Amino acid sequence: MVQETRLSAADFIYPIFVTRKDAGPIEGMPGVFRYTIDGAVQAARKAEAAGVSGILLFGLPTSKDEMASRALSRDGIIPEAIRVIKGAELDLVVITDICVCSYTSHGHCGILDGETVSNDATLPLLAEMAQVHAESGVDVVAPSGMMDHQVAAIRDSLDSAGYQQVSILSYAAKYASAFYGPFRDAAGGAPQFGDRKTHQMNPANAFEALREIELDIEEGADLIMIKPALAYLDIIRQARDRWPEIPLIAYNVSGEYSMVKAAAAQEYADESTTVLEILNSIRRAGAQSIITYHALDAAHWLRNSKK
Ligand code: PBG
Repeated sequence: MVQETRLSAADFIYPIFVTRKDAGPIEGMPGVFRYTIDGAVQAARKAEAAGVSGILLFGLPTSKDEMASRALSRDGIIPEAIRVIKGAELDLVVITDICVCSYTSHGHCGILDGETVSNDATLPLLAEMAQVHAESGVDVVAPSGMMDHQVAAIRDSLDSAGYQQVSILSYAAKYASAFYGPFRDAAGGAPQFGDRKTHQMNPANAFEALREIELDIEEGADLIMIKPALAYLDIIRQARDRWPEIPLIAYNVSGEYSMVKAAAAQEYADESTTVLEILNSIRRAGAQSIITYHALDAAHWLRNSKK
């Protein structure tokens, strides 16, 4: 009766991988699939039926190059997926990832200068990618590349093109984490050399996360994200206390999902109770919504537990 935190399906955002070829299961993420556009619409319908609030789309382009050209194409996989999904008029917020790591041949999150990601050369690319998604009807764009000033660049670009209504969900505090491993296989975005430590955050830092969040709020972020979730509950709590008024989203990432799946497969852990405990802890720490690959299952478990 007096339970402090409650979970509901409406707290969840479901990530969906969209591709034109090689649709099917994702190794390392049992129960998660790469979908064609038709399959993605069906997955979105299932999410809507489960009571989930939003979907987060990731695209696998047909080709990659050094400049991530396919990320800017109006007939690219994501713009088309947005048009089809929005056309289905589902009661779901459609969010897209704004980062070029799946579109570059080298797998880095930006344009390279030698072997280094050039922050400033990447900004116009992200700004244009967001504009292309906005033209296709996306509700929210979610820049995930951790380039400095990306929120401001995207806000300017959206506003000047007349898309003031499109919101920005900023991956404000994104750590250079080992927990992204399964995702990088799923989306084909692993860096071919080096790592992401020049722009993603050092897992040992907390003050830096608050500074990153503050800058993104100043630049015009409408919602902020902390990622991963489980190893960073303290950051979620600090952000919630410091900015109680801003929507705060946590990303329960691929490695967190796969760990539970692997333990459950070995019968070392009970999947549904473990997942609901994890999701509850992320909400208790202060996140309003959770991006999770467990969204549909968790919605189902919650429904059954109330019967
Ligand atoms: C793209 C991006 C990544 C994730 C979301 N957007 C990978 C990365 O930064 O390497 C990870 C999501 C997950 O692990 O579930 N930059």
